[in-house]
Amino acid sequence: MGLWVLGPPGLAGFAAADDPPATERAVTDIVPAPVQARPDPAANFTLTADSVIRAEYQAHDVADYLGDLLRPATGFAIPVVDRYDTSKPGITLQLGDADQQLGSEGYQLTVAKDGITLQANTTDGLFEGVQSLRQLFPSAIGKSSVQQQDWTVSGGTVFDYPRFARRGAMLDVARHFFGPDQVKRYIDQIAQYKINTLHLHLTDDQGWRIEIKSWPQLTEIGGKTAVDGDPGGFYTQDQYTDIVNYAASRHITVVPEVDMPGHTNAAQASYGELNCDGKPVPPRTDIDVGYSSLCISSPTTYKFVEDVIRELAALTPGPYLDIGGDEAKSTSAADYSAFYAKVMPLVSEYGKQIQGWHNIVEANPPVSAVPEYWDTSRTNADVAAAAARGNKILMAPADKAYLDMKYTPDDPLGLHWAGYVEVKDAYDWDPATVLQGVPESSVAGVEAPLWSETLRTSADIEYQAFPRLAGIAEIGWSPAATHNWDDYRKRLAAQGPIWTAQGINFYRSPQVDWK
Ligand code: ACM
Repeated sequence: MGLWVLGPPGLAGFAAADDPPATERAVTDIVPAPVQARPDPAANFTLTADSVIRAEYQAHDVADYLGDLLRPATGFAIPVVDRYDTSKPGITLQLGDADQQLGSEGYQLTVAKDGITLQANTTDGLFEGVQSLRQLFPSAIGKSSVQQQDWTVSGGTVFDYPRFARRGAMLDVARHFFGPDQVKRYIDQIAQYKINTLHLHLTDDQGWRIEIKSWPQLTEIGGKTAVDGDPGGFYTQDQYTDIVNYAASRHITVVPEVDMPGHTNAAQASYGELNCDGKPVPPRTDIDVGYSSLCISSPTTYKFVEDVIRELAALTPGPYLDIGGDEAKSTSAADYSAFYAKVMPLVSEYGKQIQGWHNIVEANPPVSAVPEYWDTSRTNADVAAAAARGNKILMAPADKAYLDMKYTPDDPLGLHWAGYVEVKDAYDWDPATVLQGVPESSVAGVEAPLWSETLRTSADIEYQAFPRLAGIAEIGWSPAATHNWDDYRKRLAAQGPIWTAQGINFYRSPQVDWK
């Protein structure tokens, strides 16, 4: 078997009649790259109409999720059975008593001829292991109708856990509105790459997208508009809760953002009392930034912010509320500090911790706050000082991690104020060295923000996110030692057929030799 291990992974396979069918991806081809992977084609497992998923009760949610992934294309029943029912071949989910090194999100996967075993300390770990396992199936497993074909899974072992606790994506639903089903579609797509946080940018100048019961005009007026005069929309609190619960079922925590004290035109158009002159401003559907500011001197502003934070905190099972803070160009530095001195304590008053754009470091946040670095500069003394005080920084440098940046000047979508970001640019950086004075121990993780000024459909979201999202996810999950563009671009190429089978509209970058 040694020869197999030394041979080329992935598409390798012999044509002789007795050999197992060639598989599309070996364990060494998984994205994000695992900590350790040992392929063994002689250990390939074939899923059949007889196969089952074995799981104890506490792992049934993950077992049901895995079954739902495997049933549509195979047409097999794949029942979830008792963990100790060994009468049929199949996939065993083993929860608890896994290697301590795996931590809370790691997993150990063994694909052998007679069955597959996935072990983890938590259901989060099992879920992330399922994301690796599904890549070992033929790509057609992602199709929604029954395919008549062999379902052989690449043999071998994987031992894997994340480099950073936080791997995030952000979706701007304010510039253009995306309905609950579109958000769920994106949640399913990002979960495949072990993204565990979805930051929803819920409010901006052009639209207010979350129902706030104590300020109903925010959505009645501010929810109606979007960039370019396109249709607006908003989530009722019930719809929003449904999205949060759906994300949780994909082991993803939602971080809701209400941007302030700038990026607030939609709120100020909805309520005159949020402006210093008491008059509502006209709605805006252009894509300028930096012109709006809440009225910093008005007590009504703080009543408004507290009501929003209170209602949003009640809708948020996760630990973080994002209170914005970027591009407050129409708020003086003194007003910015005065504003946050009043607003930051409200977040903890309602039981949450602060996330914000890195600009909030100028307002002396508590060390529990997570500033998100979005600038293109490699130095920022204030952010480095916050890191030195103990704040963990979330890395999303716009020239690397912003999925809305155009790939090239020919990209029909996106903006390019931070430059053109091809697939290699999005992959070739290290969160532990990208910002001077912010070492690995001060990095919370990575986020891939997707702003929606130019995006209207799920196909648009997918085109900007794929393939770059996979690269940001790998930077967040995989050991720094695995970082290698030549290796990555080959593994990425082998993801293309998965996206095609799933109907994901991805950018076929010329930097990758797509299968
Ligand atoms: C930002 O891109 N204004 C955070």
